[in-house]
Amino acid sequence: MKIPDYINHLTAYKPGKPIEETQREYGLKQVFKLASNENPLGPSPLIRKALEKAIANQHLYPDPSQYELLQAGTKFWNLKTENISFGNGTDEIIDFLVRIFCRTKDQILFPLYSFQAYEVTAGACQVECVRVPLKDQWHFDLDKTIEAFEKNKEKIKIVFIANPNNPTGTYMDAKTVRSFLDYFRKQKDVLIVFDEAYFEFTRAQDYESAVQYLPSTENLVVLRTFSKIFGIAGLRLGAMLANAPIVQAYNKMRKPFNVSGLAQVAGVAAMADQDFIRQTQQITWSGLDYYYGELTRLKIDYIPSEGNFVLIDTQTEASVVFEQLLRRGIILRPVKNYGLPNHLRMSVGLEIENQAAIKALAEVLRG
Ligand SMILES: Cc1ncc(COP(=O)(O)O)c(C=O)c1O
Repeated sequence: MKIPDYINHLTAYKPGKPIEETQREYGLKQVFKLASNENPLGPSPLIRKALEKAIANQHLYPDPSQYELLQAGTKFWNLKTENISFGNGTDEIIDFLVRIFCRTKDQILFPLYSFQAYEVTAGACQVECVRVPLKDQWHFDLDKTIEAFEKNKEKIKIVFIANPNNPTGTYMDAKTVRSFLDYFRKQKDVLIVFDEAYFEFTRAQDYESAVQYLPSTENLVVLRTFSKIFGIAGLRLGAMLANAPIVQAYNKMRKPFNVSGLAQVAGVAAMADQDFIRQTQQITWSGLDYYYGELTRLKIDYIPSEGNFVLIDTQTEASVVFEQLLRRGIILRPVKNYGLPNHLRMSVGLEIENQAAIKALAEVLRG
C-alpha cells in the first residue's frame, strides 16, 4: 500500500512533552510541565462535581444536539443557539473549517509564527499556506496582510488570526481589528477566523474580542477553547461562534458524537463558574508579572504576553537549553517548528512551578 506523498511529507503537530515520559527518560520523581499553556489549577471544583455525577451515564452516547451546552453558551456569549456549535477541541473545528472551505491547491493565510494547527491541517488537505511577515519583529501587520491577500485573492479561502497569538503572546489591538474587518468583510469569498483561545487572559486595555462583530460580518468565525482558562484540555472541548449558515455547514460535517458526554457536562459547569475564571486570571497575571521581573533580573529577553505563557529568547540553540531543563525536571516548549530555533515558550504554572522554572533557567543560561 503506497502512502500518498503529501501525507509522507507532512510534519505532524508536535505537542508538549508529557510528564510521565520525562520522568521515565530522566529518572526523575518530580517534573513540572510548563509546555502546553494548560490551567495549573486543574478542573474547577464545580466541574469535578459535575463529572462525578455524570460518570454513571457514560454507557450512553452523548447528546448529538449538544442541547445543554448550547443553552449555557447562549447565556455565556449572549448569542443565539444558531450562532454556536462545539467541537472536540478547537483543533477539530479548525480542521473542519479547512475541509469545508478549501479544495486542493487553495490557500490559507496567517501571520508568521502562528498556531501550528493551521498549517498541519492545511498540509493534510493539500492546501497551501501564505505566511505574512510581522511588523517590528513580532506584531501583526495589516498592510502586509492586505497586500499578501490581494496578490492571491482567488486562491485564499481562509485567513486565520490567533488573537492573542500563540507562540508570541502578542495581540491585534481593537483599532486594527476594526480596520482588518472593514477590509475583509467585503471579501465575501474568504472566511475570517479569529482564534481567541487566550481571550480571558488578556489585560491590554486596547484588546477587543471579535465576537461583537458577528452581526455585521457574515464571513466571520470566532473560536474559543475550554482547554485554557476552563482547565479541561484533557476532555477536548472548543466552541465556534459564527453566523447561522457557517454553523449549519459545520454541523453537517461534524460527527454526531464529536463532543463526549463528559466534555458536555464539564463545559456547562465551566461556563457557570465566573469565580474560577477570575481565580485563574489572578494566578496567571501574578505568575506572568513574576516571570517578567525574574527574566529582567536574569537579562533574558522576552516578549510581553497577553496569554498564559511567555516566549523567551535563549540567544542560543533552544533545543540544547530545553534538554538541560528536562534534566532539571522542567518541561518548556521548543518552538523551532514555528521557525524560532532560539526561543522557548514557558507557560504560567503554580507559584512553585514558576519558581522552579526560573531557578532552572538561571542555572542553565546564567551558570
Ligand atoms: C491559538 C490556539 N488555538 C487553539 C488551540 C487548541 O485548543 P484546543 O485544545 O481547543 O484544541 C491552542 C492550543 O494551544 C492555541 O494556542
